Amino acid sequence: MPNNGRAGFNHASPRTTRGSVVQFMRIRYSLLNAVAIAGLLAVGPAASLSGAEQESRNLKSIASPDQRITAIFNLNEGKPSYLVNFRGRPLILPSALGFDLKDGALKSEFTLLDAKTSAFDETWTQPWGEQRLVRNHYNELTVTLQQTTEPKRKLRVVFRVFDHAIAFRYEWPEQAGLKDFEIMDERTEFRLASDPMTLWQPALRPQQTEQLYARTRLSELLRQTRLPQGDESFGDNPKKEPVKAATTPLTMQTDDGVYLVIHEADLTDFAAMQLQPRDNHTLKSFLTPWSDGVRIRASAPTVSPWRFVMISDKLSDIGERTTLTALNLNPPSRIADTSWIKPGKYVGIWWGMHLGKHTWNPSKPGESSTDGLGATTKNTWAYIDFAAKNGFDGVLVEGWNKGWAADWVAHAAEFSFTEPNAEFDLASLAAYAHDKGVDLISHHETGSIITNYEAQAEAAFAQMEKLGIRHLKTGYVGMEPRVNRYDANGKLIGAEYLDGQYMVRHYRKITALAAKHHVMIDVHEPIKDTGERRTWPNMMTREGSRGQEYNAWAPDGGNPPAHDVNLVFTRFLSGPMDFTPGVLQVTFPEFRKKNRVNTTVAKQLAMYVTFYSPLQMAADLIENYEKHPDLLQFIKDVPTDWEETRMLNGALGEFVTIARKQRGSEDWFIGSITDEKKRSFDLALNFLPKKQKYIAEIYRDADDADWKSNPYAHAIEKRAVTSDSQLTVALAPGGGAAIRLRQATKQDELATNAR
Ligand code: NOJ
Ligand code: CA
Repeated sequence: MPNNGRAGFNHASPRTTRGSVVQFMRIRYSLLNAVAIAGLLAVGPAASLSGAEQESRNLKSIASPDQRITAIFNLNEGKPSYLVNFRGRPLILPSALGFDLKDGALKSEFTLLDAKTSAFDETWTQPWGEQRLVRNHYNELTVTLQQTTEPKRKLRVVFRVFDHAIAFRYEWPEQAGLKDFEIMDERTEFRLASDPMTLWQPALRPQQTEQLYARTRLSELLRQTRLPQGDESFGDNPKKEPVKAATTPLTMQTDDGVYLVIHEADLTDFAAMQLQPRDNHTLKSFLTPWSDGVRIRASAPTVSPWRFVMISDKLSDIGERTTLTALNLNPPSRIADTSWIKPGKYVGIWWGMHLGKHTWNPSKPGESSTDGLGATTKNTWAYIDFAAKNGFDGVLVEGWNKGWAADWVAHAAEFSFTEPNAEFDLASLAAYAHDKGVDLISHHETGSIITNYEAQAEAAFAQMEKLGIRHLKTGYVGMEPRVNRYDANGKLIGAEYLDGQYMVRHYRKITALAAKHHVMIDVHEPIKDTGERRTWPNMMTREGSRGQEYNAWAPDGGNPPAHDVNLVFTRFLSGPMDFTPGVLQVTFPEFRKKNRVNTTVAKQLAMYVTFYSPLQMAADLIENYEKHPDLLQFIKDVPTDWEETRMLNGALGEFVTIARKQRGSEDWFIGSITDEKKRSFDLALNFLPKKQKYIAEIYRDADDADWKSNPYAHAIEKRAVTSDSQLTVALAPGGGAAIRLRQATKQDELATNAR
C-alpha cells in the first residue's frame, strides 16, 4: 500500500537477501556466547541429538544489520523459546514463546517446518511527526512450527532485528485445523540476564495508566503491594496485594549501562500486553482479559501485535527511536490523501472547569463554581478571538453538548453527541471560528457508556463534517479501568477493561469513523499508543498518563517534579501525549488552596519541546496569558511538527534535554527539564549548520527560582551563537529551560554591531 500518497523518498524496495543473511548468521553463530547456548539447551532436558545436530535443526539465529544484536530461536523438546545477545553477551536469557488456547490445542509439542530469512531497508516519510524521514531497516527470520499431534496446527513466529531493537510477532496462518479460537494465556517471557533498575507503573488499576511511576529494581515488582509513592489516594489495593503486572512501555537500565524498553506495536484486534513479574528477573506477557476471563477471541488467519524490546547502551537511542520502531512495525497509511491532517496548537474552555472557575454543566454562578457553565457562546467567542489574535489553530470546548449534569458520571447515558446545550450556538460558532481561521475542537465525553456513544457516533461525525469541525477530543471517564458492556437489548454483559480486546476494537472503530469524516482525534483515557498513527494519521494524540489536570485537583497534590521527567522515558516513548502544558499561573489559591502546578514557569515552556504532541494545548485561562505576555511568546513561536529530534542528555527519572528542528524551517528548539534537583550543564550546539549565525532566545529559571518557593522567577535572554558555541543551561529545582534557535537576520546583525 502506498504511504498516503506522499512517500516517495528514497524508497528502496524490500530485498530478499537470503544468501547473505544466512551467511552472516553462520559467522555470528560461531561467535555466540557459550553461556547463551548452554542456557538455550537447558530449556528442556538434553535431547539425544548431539549439540551440533540440535544447532542445525532447531536453533535459528538472526542478527541486526550492524551485527550488535542477535536473536536466537530454539525449539527444544518441542517447546519454542528465544534469547537475545547484545554485543556478544546474553541480555535476554532463553525465554518461552507461545500461547494456551481454550481447547488446549497448541499446548502440545511442535516441530520446525521451515525457517526463512530476509532483509528490508526503506525510508518513508511521516505526514507529520517528531521526525520526517523514518528508516525501517531490519533482518527478518520467520519460523513455521507445526504441532506433532492432531490437529497438527501451524503457528509462525516472525522476528525482526533492527540496529536498536528486536521484535517478534505470532501468526496463525489459514489452515484446516484452526478457524475461530480463544486464547487463554500468552506464554511469552522476557527473562533478563540481570536485575535492572526499572521505571514502572502498575497495570489494571483504577485510573488505569494515570498513575505515577516507581523507579526500583525489577525484582521489587514481585514485592510491591503499594502504588508508587504519592499515588495511594488513587489506589484500590486495600488488601495490599502484590502488583499483578506493569504497563508497557517498561523502561530498564542494567548496571552495565544497557537500556531496554519492552513495548508492543500494531495492537489492532488483540488485548494489551501487560508485564507480569514471575521471578526476580523474569517478566511474562499478561494479556488483559475480557470479563469472562478469555484473553483473545480470534479467527485464523490472524496475527498478534509485535512484541519489541529496544536495546542500546545510549539513552538517546531509546529516546529518539522507540516510537519510530513502533511506527515501523505498523502498516502504512490507509488514508490516501492526508492533506487535511495538520498538526497545531490549541486553547480552550477546559482548565477553568478543572480549577472550579467554570462547570461542564449548566449550573448557576456560585453553585459549584465562580462563573457557572464554561461552554457558552460568549466564552467561546472570547477564546476564538484570543486564538486568532495569537496564532492558535483550535479552540476546545468541553461541556458544549446536552447531558452534562453536576454528577455527570452517574448520568453519562444521557449524553447527546449532536445537540448543543441551550447556551451554546454550535453552528454559528463553527462558522465564526472559520471566519477567524480557527477550528472549533469538539468533545465527546462518553462517560464510559460505549453503547450510547457508538449508537450516536456516525451521526455525530457526519454533523462535524457538515459544520467543518476537523478536531475531536474524546474521553472515557467513569469506571476506569473498565467500561460496562451491554448486549443489543441493553442487558449488562460485564465490565471490560479499557485495554482489553473489546475496547481495542472500539477505539479502532472510532479512529476509522473519524478518518471517514475527515476528523483528527485526541483520545483521553485511551488505549496505549502502539504506533497506529502510521496506518491512521488522523490519530493525532492522546492522554494515557497523569497529565496537567492532576495539578488542578489531585488529592495527593498533583504531579511531583520527577513525574514530568519520568514521562519522557516511559509514556512518551510510545508516542505523542496530550499532556496540556503551558499553565503559567502556577498557583491559584482563589480556586484551589491545596493544589498548584508543581513546576517553575520556565519548565512549563520547556515541556513544549520535551513532550511531543502534534496537537499541543496552551492550557491556561486567557486572563492568565494576559498576565504573562513575555512567556506566552515562546508558546506562540514553538511549532508542533518536526524535521528531526535529538535527545541531547538525560538520566532516567532525573533530567532530560531534547532538541528538535522545526519542519520546513532552519530553526531549532531545545527543552530541558529536571526533577527536584537543581542542575547545570553545557550544551554543544554542533547540530546547527556550520558557519550559520543563530540567535538563541532563552527562557530560563532565574538564579533564585525554585518550583516550591519561587516558581515565577525567570529570565529571557538573547545570545548570538553558532554551531561552535556551548550554551550553559542552569535549571532550578523543579525547573526547566526553553530555547528557540533562530537563524540570525540582517536586523540582528545590525543590532549586534550597534552594541
Ligand atoms: C478527563 C480528561 O482527561 C479531561 O481532559 C476532561 O476534561 C475530563 N475527563 C472531562 O471529560
Ligand atoms: Ca484523564
